[in-house]
Amino acid sequence: MTGSPQVVSGPEGIAVAVAALRAGRLVALPTETVYGLGADASDPDAVAGIFRVKGRPTNHPLIVHIADAARMGEWAAAVTPEAEALAAAFWPGPLTLLMRRTSVVGDWVTGGRDTVGLRVPADEVALELLRAFGGGIAAPSANRFGRVSPTSAAHVVADLGADVDVVLDGGSCSVGVESTIVDVSGDEVVVLRLGGVSVEALADVLGFRPRVEQAAAVVGEAAAPGMLAAHYAPAARVIICGAEEVVEWAAALLADGAGPSVVGVLAPRSIDGLPFAVIELEPAGDGEEYAHALYARLRQADRLGITHLLCVPPLPVGLGAAVTDRLRRAAASH
Ligand code: TXA
Ligand code: MG
Repeated sequence: MTGSPQVVSGPEGIAVAVAALRAGRLVALPTETVYGLGADASDPDAVAGIFRVKGRPTNHPLIVHIADAARMGEWAAAVTPEAEALAAAFWPGPLTLLMRRTSVVGDWVTGGRDTVGLRVPADEVALELLRAFGGGIAAPSANRFGRVSPTSAAHVVADLGADVDVVLDGGSCSVGVESTIVDVSGDEVVVLRLGGVSVEALADVLGFRPRVEQAAAVVGEAAAPGMLAAHYAPAARVIICGAEEVVEWAAALLADGAGPSVVGVLAPRSIDGLPFAVIELEPAGDGEEYAHALYARLRQADRLGITHLLCVPPLPVGLGAAVTDRLRRAAASH
């Protein structure tokens, strides 16, 4: 990785980003969840660039971002009443709906699947870009495969460098974890990834609590192949523990003669009685607050050279459930 991308913002930034997308280039864009690595969804060569840069298997489908729910029929065939209701309630917003695709959606976006993941993001800069561009933007999170998603333009530049042509800077992502993915393509509504819209909020609109399908660990066998058990991982080894166990864990890690360890702590609230050598990251709060802070804290742990990060999850309700899910995946990566 050499050089740096063109980082742009404001109205001129939108114009630069639109021109780049039209020229088949890659544009990192802000959304309210995480930054995406975007390409013109109708351009197979441009989309191929996404897979190359991410180092992601080409059978892993991409989400198509669109400006307007009213135009979802161009991309999705057979929009079910549940899909209509969820789109009306949560778009623009951190919700991705998997629906049967129309012939407009290429195999290069869906990995050959007969469904497409669609999302209207809520971030104002993302919407301006989508409106100005006019088409769909295919975009995964703008990190290398398996690593922590970026929630600021600086994260994208640090991860991808000049492998991305243009980074549209829209500030830090307000939600901070990825969109909730809901499969509304079949008879049953199934949540495939916990994210920015809580299961409780989905249930309020649907009138029933949808099934949440725990992700399978084998590529190609899960409904969403990117949903590997091990994912979202910092370089530090993530260890999940309860608030009451942190002090004991920290002492044990520091006493372990296996090698030098730099022990860090990430928790909703400050922990009393930590050994002096432990690096306590700024407490993350609960729910939405923890979600907003999570990925920046994991990156900070790496920058500080933390080798073992003790993570106390938030209460597993609302966005706390998505945070707990990401911590589990990060912990499963080592
Ligand atoms: O918040 C988000 O969703 C962000 C922003 C940029 O929109 N995007 C994102 O994309 O997280 P990505 O590719 O990192 O994660 C999307 C997940 C992947 O696991 C992918 O396999 C799955 O959604 N997915 C997308 N389309 C699918 C489809 N048609 N069928 C099954 N899984 C799909
Ligand atoms: Mg991702």
